[in-house]
Amino acid sequence: MDTSSIVILDFGSQYTQLIARRIREQNVFSVVVPCSASLAEIQAHHPIGLILSGGPCSVYDPDAPAADPAIFSLGLPVLGICYGLQFLTHHLGGKVRSADKREYGPAQVSIVPGQGENPLFAGLPPSLDVWMSHGDEALELPPGFSLTARTANAVAGIADPSRNLWAVQFHPEVRHTPRGTELLRNFLFRICHAQPNWTPAQFIQSTVAAIREQVGDGRAICALSGGVDSSVAAVLVERAIGDRLTCVFVNNGVLRKNEFLQVQQNMRDKLGLRLVAVDAGDRFLSRLAGVLDPEQKRKIIGGEFIEVFDEQAVHILQNQQPSATVAWLVQGTLYPDVIESSSVKGPSQTIKSHHNVGGLPANMKLRLIEPLRDLFKDEVRRIGRDLEMPAEILERQPFPGPGLAVRILGEVTPARVALLQEADHIVVSEIKAAGLYQQIWQSFAVLLPVKSVGVMGDQRTYAYTCAIRAVHSEDGMTADWVPLPYDLLKKISSRIVNEIDGINRVVYDITSKPPGTIEWE
Ligand code: XMP
Repeated sequence: MDTSSIVILDFGSQYTQLIARRIREQNVFSVVVPCSASLAEIQAHHPIGLILSGGPCSVYDPDAPAADPAIFSLGLPVLGICYGLQFLTHHLGGKVRSADKREYGPAQVSIVPGQGENPLFAGLPPSLDVWMSHGDEALELPPGFSLTARTANAVAGIADPSRNLWAVQFHPEVRHTPRGTELLRNFLFRICHAQPNWTPAQFIQSTVAAIREQVGDGRAICALSGGVDSSVAAVLVERAIGDRLTCVFVNNGVLRKNEFLQVQQNMRDKLGLRLVAVDAGDRFLSRLAGVLDPEQKRKIIGGEFIEVFDEQAVHILQNQQPSATVAWLVQGTLYPDVIESSSVKGPSQTIKSHHNVGGLPANMKLRLIEPLRDLFKDEVRRIGRDLEMPAEILERQPFPGPGLAVRILGEVTPARVALLQEADHIVVSEIKAAGLYQQIWQSFAVLLPVKSVGVMGDQRTYAYTCAIRAVHSEDGMTADWVPLPYDLLKKISSRIVNEIDGINRVVYDITSKPPGTIEWE
């Protein structure tokens, strides 16, 4: 996208993506690049300022991550955070040492008197509550720098305003630094003179124009799951090329109750997308018969999906475009996938494996359109709202590609799928009725291959157990179990046991991630 940006050099902190989000929340575009990015790569993003992130290493470690020190001579404002401060100190002629007292957690920072003119601290009180997480400290400041803030034990801020270099030892990007956003705003607007013009409307306009230009008079296909990412990606592409986009939605036999129909209605009627719906449920379920291992289930579903999708894609493209050889494949890849694949595996075209339609014939020359590859999940929802997509679609909780198969422990059979669909439907509709659905990252039922004895009426029962799972999370990487109200749990449990013949016991999963995972398989 042709927008000026703040480039964040990633030294490996768990908070790096958070810095990017906080900046984008101010309607300023930001990108994360590995700290080892070349100057050319950094400049390709049209930076108006650089941020050096935190990181787990010490600048003296033999394999300490490093950036090209020439970044300090680009004439751009630089803000170092935590390790960023130490990197800057170390490379500009100061000294860093292992701190006598490590600082982890909340701390109090005093702004050094006489910093009234310091634009980074403009509007902030002389004493700040901050979040620290470091074992090293700056001992000697580099030439030209002065101390701008300190804690009782250590240096907390330094600056060389003449070269536009600024650094803080604490983490302004985390919520535990309550005035941190103001500090970041000061960096953006007072120091980098950023324009707050990175808005959903601007994103939609420039993305639609770019897709239109890219695709020309070509055609595109999109594997639609009905989830937020693929739906928003499809709507953006549809805005650009209209019905030259065809979406393919596959029933893999492990969708939720009524989902095959509902997604078709949502996509066709509410979003006006041209959709081919393929009911391949039996085909998937017969391949899953007798399979117990979770990864094996994933592989089967992923492989089968590629086959079904390929068949459809070939059919659609040959029908619509017999002479042309270039077509496009739309994917809802998000920014965290891009960052992860670029930092670990080098420049990315890596796509989540079960979305990767690798088997298409070479002469089709499918090229990728990934309109969301610059966005975080919450930003995708914001864009969806601006595209006037129905809340019901945008608020859907994430649902894994292998669907209910990874929530049916043990063998996936049609009967077990039917049981879990009913139980899951009760969990989700009661959570919706309680007004809690949107506040929860994921909430669902899991079918356990455990039978236990119960009594209903005067009858002895011997039937399956169902677990309920509800978690809060920002991105699925970590999660906390949700303390659902007792009354709600009571209602869910009583409905499941009374309404579903085949389940006679309900348990509640109170495991967070880590050490658990969100899905049971
Ligand atoms: P876990 O279970 O690893 O899940 O804590 C983290 C997030 O990823 C989703 N998930 C998957 N999504 N294919 C997907 O598309 C998969 O195989 C898969 N496994 C887990 C899970 O629902 C949660 O949001």
